[in-house]
Amino acid sequence: MSVTIRPIEAKDKEEWLNLWTGANGYIEFYKSQDKITPEISNATFDRFLDANTPMYSAVAVDDSTGKIIGFANYLTHLNTWTIEDTMYLNDLFVSPDNRLKGVGRKLIEYVYKEADRLNCGKCYWSTQFENHRAQLLYTKVGVKSGFLTYFRPS
Ligand SMILES: CC(C)(COP(=O)(O)OP(=O)(O)OC[C@H]1O[C@@H](n2cnc3c(N)ncnc32)[C@H](O)[C@@H]1OP(=O)(O)O)[C@@H](O)C(=O)NCCC(=O)NCCS
Repeated sequence: MSVTIRPIEAKDKEEWLNLWTGANGYIEFYKSQDKITPEISNATFDRFLDANTPMYSAVAVDDSTGKIIGFANYLTHLNTWTIEDTMYLNDLFVSPDNRLKGVGRKLIEYVYKEADRLNCGKCYWSTQFENHRAQLLYTKVGVKSGFLTYFRPS
């Protein structure tokens, strides 16, 4: 399968939103439809396009159809342990029909290049314990940190 990974553009909004909050999309995967309002989705998309906000998205385009079939959303932040910024891969998604064809790996490799371009000393992400499918990819392209993530109780 021939796929191009490129930065998101304004014209991608409808297709990106469809993968983000549409049926069988990323937010549904996390059963979080009640949390992500249209206001949040619009603000997030606008931030990708704002040159002054260090939040980015790359999309995977199926070269045979021109359709967007996946995305990686990532951002940079300061780190007390390094002079350089750190990159956090916030969201990774490939549409159900296009999985297991190497698209997720290509998106992560693109994010690694972006980490180099943006001079980030580290690049990291988290996943759910039970997300074994994602971990089958992650063990090939990354190393397990050994850290657990905690949240303030809501
Ligand atoms: C996780 C996700 C992004 C992976 O995308 P993908 O395009 O299917 O991933 P790839 O095809 O690039 O890579 C899958 C890798 O895992 C391996 N793999 C996956 N399932 C496997 C299985 N059942 N048995 C053996 N290997 C498996 C593949 O061999 C492949 O390795 P390779 O690159 O060496 O061939 C995709 O499944 C997805 O969007 N899931 C829903 C959302 C999600 O979980 N996002 C991540 C949140 S942290």
